[in-house]
Amino acid sequence: MNISIVPMAEDHLDAIWHIEQQAHSHPWKESMIRELNSRCAIHHSLLCNGWVAGYFYAQNVVGEITLLNIAIAPELQGNGLGKQLLQFLLDYGEEQSAESIWLEVRESNLAARHLYQSLDFNEIDRRIGYYPSNNGKEDAIIMSCYLSGFSF
Ligand SMILES: CC(C)(COP(=O)(O)OP(=O)(O)OC[C@H]1O[C@@H](n2cnc3c(N)ncnc32)[C@H](O)[C@@H]1OP(=O)(O)O)[C@@H](O)C(=O)NCCC(=O)NCCS
Repeated sequence: MNISIVPMAEDHLDAIWHIEQQAHSHPWKESMIRELNSRCAIHHSLLCNGWVAGYFYAQNVVGEITLLNIAIAPELQGNGLGKQLLQFLLDYGEEQSAESIWLEVRESNLAARHLYQSLDFNEIDRRIGYYPSNNGKEDAIIMSCYLSGFSF
């Protein structure tokens, strides 16, 4: 597989919207997926042999990066692509001298939590009953990772 990670482009959005609906239990609205020019956006797509296979939405606000959404097409999950994509964001943050990366994840999302822990994200806090879920509500776990390239 030939893998590349590139800035998200308009012509990726149909594939991204398709993956979003398949990969997530609670997908974003289509209008959010198609919003490329939000403030401080650093969204990227992962291409497999030229085809969109995954993506992340993130923003960098004065050195504090927030990961808003990350997904890999279901048929390609479990092959290390999610880790490659998140490692790219970590490297990108280092290059930009960002201080930290923050994210929120559903308590029940064990695959995502495992991915984040495998790249040294730590649980910082919880929002109790923050997300609607199929069984009522579930906690949001807030995680962060400090970047070594940051200097005061
Ligand atoms: C979370 C997601 C991006 C991970 O992508 P992926 O390509 O499947 O993950 P990888 O193959 O790179 O695996 C990364 C790590 O997570 C682990 N992992 C992956 N899927 C797992 C699962 N279902 N259960 C437990 N661990 C899992 C892998 O073993 C690996 O850990 P290791 O490096 O210690 O071996 C993918 O599952 C996805 O798109 N999920 C739906 C969208 C989503 O939930 N996004 C996160 C919202 S916060």
